[in-house]
Amino acid sequence: MSTSNGNGQPAQVPATATTIKPTDLRGILKYVPRFQGQIFVIALDGPVIADDNFGNLLVDIAVLRSLGIKLVLVHGISQQLRELSALRGVPITNADGTGVTDAATLDLAVRASSRVSHALFEGLTQNQLKCAITNAVRALPTGIIKGIDQQFTGKVDRIDKDFILELIDRQIVPVVPPIGFGPDGKSLRVNSDLLAAELAEALHATKVVYLASSPGLEIDGEIRREISIAALSRLMQEEPQRLADESRSKAIHAIKAIETGTPRVHILDGRVFDGLLNEVFSNEGVGSLVYGNDYQQIRRARKSDVRMIYNLTRNAVRREELVHRTQQAIEKNIDHFFVFEIDENIIACVTLYFYPDRPLMAEVGSLYVMPFYNNRGIGRKMVEYAGMVAKERGADTLLALSTQNFGFFTNVCGFEETSREILPDARMRTYEESGRNAKVMVKRL
Ligand SMILES: CC(C)(COP(=O)(O)OP(=O)(O)OC[C@H]1O[C@@H](n2cnc3c(N)ncnc32)[C@H](O)[C@@H]1OP(=O)(O)O)[C@@H](O)C(=O)NCCC(=O)NCCS
Repeated sequence: MSTSNGNGQPAQVPATATTIKPTDLRGILKYVPRFQGQIFVIALDGPVIADDNFGNLLVDIAVLRSLGIKLVLVHGISQQLRELSALRGVPITNADGTGVTDAATLDLAVRASSRVSHALFEGLTQNQLKCAITNAVRALPTGIIKGIDQQFTGKVDRIDKDFILELIDRQIVPVVPPIGFGPDGKSLRVNSDLLAAELAEALHATKVVYLASSPGLEIDGEIRREISIAALSRLMQEEPQRLADESRSKAIHAIKAIETGTPRVHILDGRVFDGLLNEVFSNEGVGSLVYGNDYQQIRRARKSDVRMIYNLTRNAVRREELVHRTQQAIEKNIDHFFVFEIDENIIACVTLYFYPDRPLMAEVGSLYVMPFYNNRGIGRKMVEYAGMVAKERGADTLLALSTQNFGFFTNVCGFEETSREILPDARMRTYEESGRNAKVMVKRL
């Protein structure tokens, strides 16, 4: 593989570089359609930027970009902050943005952050990538925790996602430093692991890649290659001592990212040559993969969800995409509803009904996904889940009726259009009474 220097001249291939064989290329190309257009948030820890492999890593980042993957870069500064503190003889209260940040630490953090962002700028420029540092992170002071004022440490309040997406659309790589801006425009130090998770949520990213200075999540003294969020959460709650200290922050934020909708989080050593490409483009990977259980955010609805379900579906009812249901009607049928929950908010719902006169047949309905969360596979998951429950309860046929989004059921969920004659008698009567003339679709389970 040849690289280019800042002047557009071919640079020397690093001595350690391997050449990509056509067979490897075929392996990589199979991932291209899958990842094209998706957003990856890549978080680089301070030591990764200071390491000799940094130049190679930027080439890997340029490769991902050239494959049509949309990248957002976040960086840490803890190593550079410690170095600056030692160099200037100014003690710091905290290096990673999780404890107290006093005024002197904030001042050094801003300087360290500028240097690190600049190093990234240089590297991206050498790889012909346009980039821009952003002030897209609005932060709020963390405040007083257990009686201690955290001073200039901040938590993410809001992310200006339109700004970041606009940059991406213009082929500019956004670089987000671990310094947020408070409502008064003043700087607050934010932990970069947290920042990456928050950005992934706001941007609907499909991956967070933590490029750390350790090889992955270390559990019981060994690097775990793959772990589900359910297993990792259980471990963190019940036996946190099994996880190495260096892995703790990544584990906490991987859980956060997945709980808020990012399907996968990779944690790997950013100083390993070819590590990033291997992790993304091979089934084995080189670091740790934390993955979400596809259905863990789906649960049966409860009476206390009625108002939220009503409010959620109101707009779709107005557009006649869904049948009108009063709060009382939802409450009466609450046992038929399943909801998808993020951060204790219901963002999608679906119903599953059985026909008393046809025990082998079930109907999926009232499917709604809040527009902010569209195109993240949630609608498909809800329908799949309803199908799974129907099958478990003995059904072999799933029906869906839709007036405007029938294409979703046929193109995305594997249903086929069928005649209304398939409806059981009682259902046919309510179908005709409704006058909606919905298309009827069927799927064999
Ligand atoms: C239809 C709906 C449930 C889709 O939810 P979602 O979570 O965005 O869907 P997913 O992320 O699982 O799937 C997205 C895919 O479905 C496709 N899709 C969405 N609506 C579609 C339609 N009407 N026809 C064809 N394809 C459609 C998208 O283009 C996307 O395709 P891609 O993966 O190739 O990019 C959602 O838009 C919605 O709530 N609509 C309003 C209510 C409604 O009409 N419900 C159905 C009647 S019961």
